[in-house]
Amino acid sequence: MHLTIVTTCILLMIPLSEAGYRGCQICGGQYPEINAELSQIREAAVQWLTVQQNGDGSWPTVNTQNVILGLQLANRSWLASQELNERLLTKSRLEFELVRQLLPARREVCDENSGRGRVRFSRSPFKSSFGCPATFERGAGILAQYMLSLQSICCPIDDFYGVNLGCTMTNVLRNFPEENFNNFFQYSLAILSMCSLRADIFWKALWKLAEGSDKSDPCYSPSGDDSGRNISVLSVQVMAMVCARDQAINKNVPNWDSILSARIQCILDTQNDDDGSFGNSTSTALAIQALTAASIDPTIWSCNETVPWLLKQQTNGDFGGIDATAQILPFLYCSNFGSLRNTTIDCPE
Ligand SMILES: *[C@@H]1O[C@H](CO)[C@@H](O)[C@H](O)[C@H]1NC(C)=O
Ligand SMILES: *[C@@H]1O[C@H](CO)[C@@H](O)[C@H](O)[C@H]1NC(C)=O
Ligand SMILES: *[C@@H]1O[C@H](CO)[C@@H](O)[C@H](O)[C@H]1NC(C)=O
Ligand SMILES: *[C@@H]1O[C@H](CO)[C@@H](O)[C@H](O)[C@H]1NC(C)=O
Ligand SMILES: *[C@@H]1O[C@H](CO)[C@@H](O)[C@H](O)[C@H]1NC(C)=O
Repeated sequence: MHLTIVTTCILLMIPLSEAGYRGCQICGGQYPEINAELSQIREAAVQWLTVQQNGDGSWPTVNTQNVILGLQLANRSWLASQELNERLLTKSRLEFELVRQLLPARREVCDENSGRGRVRFSRSPFKSSFGCPATFERGAGILAQYMLSLQSICCPIDDFYGVNLGCTMTNVLRNFPEENFNNFFQYSLAILSMCSLRADIFWKALWKLAEGSDKSDPCYSPSGDDSGRNISVLSVQVMAMVCARDQAINKNVPNWDSILSARIQCILDTQNDDDGSFGNSTSTALAIQALTAASIDPTIWSCNETVPWLLKQQTNGDFGGIDATAQILPFLYCSNFGSLRNTTIDCPE
């Protein structure tokens, strides 16, 4: 059987609206010097990430999906502004990577008997549970990254080559915790991917996000340091809780707002008073994305000190690697991992 590869997201080639970005003034716009420096550095960061792309369209260290998401969250016109062949290569690579991961293991066999080296499938892909696989081998955190990345370039999520990714995510969420899907960083990304789509999230999945690792301590995370606090985990938990708040309140998930406030306070408590940082550059960028997503007044967390500190952590737009730069970039454009919820509306019909 041949898998017909059709282009599923042709529409992304139209540059998307810039409206949301005109008002990007970091720290409330009170610091023109910071904003001037920032706009140079963030352009350098976009450049730096763009040129790291491999010839096959991927980005090194299995980050294709994260880089595309970071660049699109920074500027929704990033992909549309590339040359046509570059655009197609990038989009096809992203789709190819996910298609490959959705196919059940070892189903591709080389048909030696045909003598033509044709690839055939030992059984129809997705047949066992057509349209809505019950598992995703690399875990829901990775699936969420692909879903967010596809969404950021306006590709359909409900019919990705015959698979409904939101439905798959709902299945996979039920299996938490399991191998490759066992911490609240991944869990929160999974919730963010559903919430960004404005998909319905079942009550228990929201409740688990609120409960976290330890219901007596909403900030606790076993992967953290001695204090049991992990700023990166707290930050994505906050972004996911802000994004899914409407649903959680409608569904009466208990203590949502008090847990959200407690987590925000824990992020604030970890701030280094000397330089305004929150751990290293990656966790700092995630923390300030979370605080921004939660509409915390930037003077409360000394934005005028944190942002200059963050900007000093890079050289020529490189914030310490592809992964770190891709995670930091959205903040530099006043965006965060929950921003897609609002930007999808701008996808051309
Ligand atoms: C976004 O990218 C487009 C195309 O490259 C560019 O014209 C625009 O200035 C960028 N927007 C921002 C805010 O940098
Ligand atoms: C925080 O948690 C993430 C995800 O579990 C992990 O990758 C990271 O190493 C942790 N950070 C620290 C400082 O423990
Ligand atoms: C940041 O702003 C506060 C007042 O909100 C001020 O006290 C502090 O000196 C400023 N820091 C820098 C580095 O400008
Ligand atoms: C920040 O710390 C985390 C956890 O220790 C690590 O995974 C990440 O690579 C670090 N980021 C940078 C830019 O060094
Ligand atoms: C999305 O838009 C709504 C209304 O337009 C606004 O209230 C909300 O703050 C926005 N959310 C984000 C994450 O920008």
